[in-house]
Amino acid sequence: MSFRMVDFIVKKRDGGTHSREELEAFIRGYVADEIPDYQASAWCMAVYFQGMTPEETAHLTLAMAYSGETLDLHDVAPIVVDKHSSGGVGDKTSLAVGPIVAATGLPVGKMSGRGLAHTGGTLDKLESFRGFRAELSFEEFKRQLKEVGLVIAGATHDLAPADKKLYALRDVTGTVPSVPLIASSIMSKKIATGSDAIVLDVKVGKGAFMRTLEDARVLARLMVDIGTHLNRRMAAVLSDMNQPLGRAVGNALEVKEAIATLHGRGPADFTELVHTVAGEMIRLGGKAATREEARALVDKVIADGSAFRKFREFIVAQGGDPAQVDNPDLLPKARIVVPLESAAAGYVADIDALQVGLATMILGGGREKKGEPIDHAVGVVLHKKVGDRVDAGEPLCEVHANDEARLAEALERLRRAIVVTPEPVEGYPIVYEIIT
Ligand code: URA
Repeated sequence: MSFRMVDFIVKKRDGGTHSREELEAFIRGYVADEIPDYQASAWCMAVYFQGMTPEETAHLTLAMAYSGETLDLHDVAPIVVDKHSSGGVGDKTSLAVGPIVAATGLPVGKMSGRGLAHTGGTLDKLESFRGFRAELSFEEFKRQLKEVGLVIAGATHDLAPADKKLYALRDVTGTVPSVPLIASSIMSKKIATGSDAIVLDVKVGKGAFMRTLEDARVLARLMVDIGTHLNRRMAAVLSDMNQPLGRAVGNALEVKEAIATLHGRGPADFTELVHTVAGEMIRLGGKAATREEARALVDKVIADGSAFRKFREFIVAQGGDPAQVDNPDLLPKARIVVPLESAAAGYVADIDALQVGLATMILGGGREKKGEPIDHAVGVVLHKKVGDRVDAGEPLCEVHANDEARLAEALERLRRAIVVTPEPVEGYPIVYEIIT
């Protein structure tokens, strides 16, 4: 088949449907650097506006999954479980869920990413630990999976390289929030890493790429169908991202909150989500027959300390400093901590997750350009959540900063992001539904 990129773009621009061969030729050409970024961007934008059929999305996903090497983990573990979030603010779920599930005896092997747009990335959070190594070779990944039962590492050039390129391109071309592009990005990585059971945490709301429950449902259904078709055990949890998850936003601050949660002292919404996602992983992994049994197992490994011990073992295995795990006060700390006080008494009606995510980026907690260093210490800790009562002068949140000018800009944004009204307000549920 002769493939011309310009015809491929025009076809999608005009609402056409691509064949499997065309999608494979595009991915092959793009990974081989034969198709330039400007043409790939034009095509992503055409997909953003025209969408793709479920068949096209499945063909694209497979082409991306097999664009590099794929892992077969069955020689180290009979069943490997994994989770992936569609991206949110304050989303430290993997840090708590990974050790909990591993502590029940189910190996967790996870490829994670860095921050995307206003959302944080698991690898950036983990690098708050002195010495932590996120980039592992295949051999190291497998060895740790076998010996520790938990590994979280970055995607490599060899594994789903098509996603590595497209992810970075979409980040800077306004083409992230597209259902087929998110579905193929997430599912290609999951298929390439060879996990058997996959739980997707699909975020919904102001700080998520999917703003409505309807859009999130479409994305979740599509990914569950793609995985099921490839004999993966799948579940998708639709969870709230109108306000940040938990109370901490910012790398080291989130690590501290995840550790507190492993000790059974986490915020209510985050603890509930951790129970749901870990519970689904345990159920799909065959360690529990029902949701109730799975939740009881989660409670057990938190209460007996084995989840925390697994976290410590995993951090140490990847070179992190155990002293910081045992005493999270040794994690990077910001020089300036200031409260943002409520101007009036009332009820918290909104804490716009997108704006809190952007404020954290302004403080230096995320990247504005590819490859920039980040400040692990900075961020925001919420003292109130939507629905809470607040008195005039009471802190709504505290801001952790290392730079006065950045602090002023972040405070300005947070003042607009947090809305207090005189009338009582209902809080958000954390889990909307589970799709299997
Ligand atoms: N997470 C991913 O891995 N890819 C996306 O496109 C969005 C969130």
